[in-house]
Amino acid sequence: MALTAEHDSLGIAALDGAFGAAVAGVDLGGTLADAEFATIRDAFLASQILVFRGQQLDKPAQIRFTERFGELELPLNRDYLGADYPALHVVTNLDTEGRLKDRKVLANPGNYFWHTDASYMAVPAMATLLYAVQVPPAGGDTAFANLHLAYEALPETTKARIDGMKAVHSWAQSRINSGSRPATEEEARSAPPVAHPLVRTHPDTGRKALYLGNHTSHIEGLPVEEGRALLGELLAHATAPRFVYRHRWQPGDLVMWDNRCLVHRASDDFDFTTHARVLHRTVLRGTVPV
Ligand code: OGA
Ligand code: MN
Repeated sequence: MALTAEHDSLGIAALDGAFGAAVAGVDLGGTLADAEFATIRDAFLASQILVFRGQQLDKPAQIRFTERFGELELPLNRDYLGADYPALHVVTNLDTEGRLKDRKVLANPGNYFWHTDASYMAVPAMATLLYAVQVPPAGGDTAFANLHLAYEALPETTKARIDGMKAVHSWAQSRINSGSRPATEEEARSAPPVAHPLVRTHPDTGRKALYLGNHTSHIEGLPVEEGRALLGELLAHATAPRFVYRHRWQPGDLVMWDNRCLVHRASDDFDFTTHARVLHRTVLRGTVPV
């Protein structure tokens, strides 16, 4: 049910490709009337990704806009707590002094693997908002794959096979999958492995989606290796180019995506020693997947 044309005063238009919409003519830092907000929310549910170009948002304004949708989520990863606003994490390749590092250091290696935010939690994230402050002239895109479209394109035999399966998501396993620093005991305690339905029903639209990614470990009730192989096959299917939107960042872009039906990953294809990439990130708390 993607949007196909500009259909109201906000200027909401489908992105090229199978999903996503761009919203023009709105200042997210200003006052949004309830009706405008409702239009934005409907477009979000219809399109799974919204792109707002040319915004000028300070941190409190981004937090205010995010809170219109629900409850802010604090990051589990203690490295992610924002210094001045705990709920606003700065995704950056600069050091704490604001200097480029002299070699490529991936602060959050997990971001470079297909994932859906916080699926290792019993109550995972509903949506994430990223606002581009500084971006490299080329490279450093974020890619999004649509898990509704991927599910709908599966052969009926596969749908029948995976119906009712539960995937185990694990923070600690995710850290291993991406070669990140191991989870601390505190982090592991606050996020023990959790099983979620492999086929998830979107709580707002009722549409089904695969629910998997780098945070998944194995399938409940299947031998671990067999479950991993199945998850790997499904993720490869889900991230085929026809299900992917690739966002080329410009400073001032705010991109909001639905973690309940998309996976995403960052690209590290730019020179970290000469170009800064700084984005402000806020996250909304979701519901228990069913
Ligand atoms: C995130 C994330 C990707 C990027 O913020 O959750 O995965 O391109 N970011 O920075
Ligand atoms: Mn992410």
